[in-house]
Amino acid sequence: MKTSSASLSKIRLHRAPVRIMHWLNVPILCAMLMSGWGIYNASPIFPALTFPTALTLGGWLGGSIAWHLAVMWALAANGLLYILWGLFSGHFRRDFLPLTPRSALRDVKLALTFRLEHRLGRYNAIQKAFYWFALLCGLLLVLSGLSIWKPVQLYPLVALFGGFDRARYVHFFAMGGIVMFAVVHVAMVVTVPSTFLPMITGYIRRKPRETSDE
Ligand code: HEM
Repeated sequence: MKTSSASLSKIRLHRAPVRIMHWLNVPILCAMLMSGWGIYNASPIFPALTFPTALTLGGWLGGSIAWHLAVMWALAANGLLYILWGLFSGHFRRDFLPLTPRSALRDVKLALTFRLEHRLGRYNAIQKAFYWFALLCGLLLVLSGLSIWKPVQLYPLVALFGGFDRARYVHFFAMGGIVMFAVVHVAMVVTVPSTFLPMITGYIRRKPRETSDE
């Protein structure tokens, strides 16, 4: 049975600050990753692993460093605003919590047996854990990045990572974590495409009292 758009109610899923900061994050992260890979290629931690030139930004080491150091301010500002907004608006508490090992395990089991329901407007435990994981990787990236950028001035931070070389490894693996997150995240969106438009418009239209998008 068809439902006229008049009988559908408009429900807000994502507030404007989340949507704006989320989409700004995509080009910012791409530029950071590609310029970072350019810098890494000049002195790889793992000599057997270098990134294809086509995936790097900047053209040469100096150019990649210039991009990385310029765009990092945008990443830091956007990330800081997102964290502050998430904390003070109650968004993290409301939407990313509660999260318990039991709920995560339950949702992993449901996902593995293709029974995990996706309810628009409510993140499941796997999503919550994954978003915390992305935040943690982002934090580690910024802190380890600061350590390798200004190792003398920020020596207490470098010491916290166990030295300059270890901070480089942390930076590299946190980058790997973000890339893995992004791949799985986009795959999840492709699996449940109805989540995509609300992340742009902020709203969904659904029949009154309908709770699931299934
Ligand atoms: C690589 C960079 C990305 C990062 C770090 C990222 C991170 C996040 C985070 C943290 C959230 C939760 C937002 C919140 O409620 O505060 C989210 C939601 C979402 N993201 Fe991304 N994202 C990225 C790229 C993308 C891309 C490329 C797409 C498009 C295919 C996308 C589509 C979505 C959608 C549709 C949601 C809402 C999911 C839902 O309602 O169930 N994201 N993302």
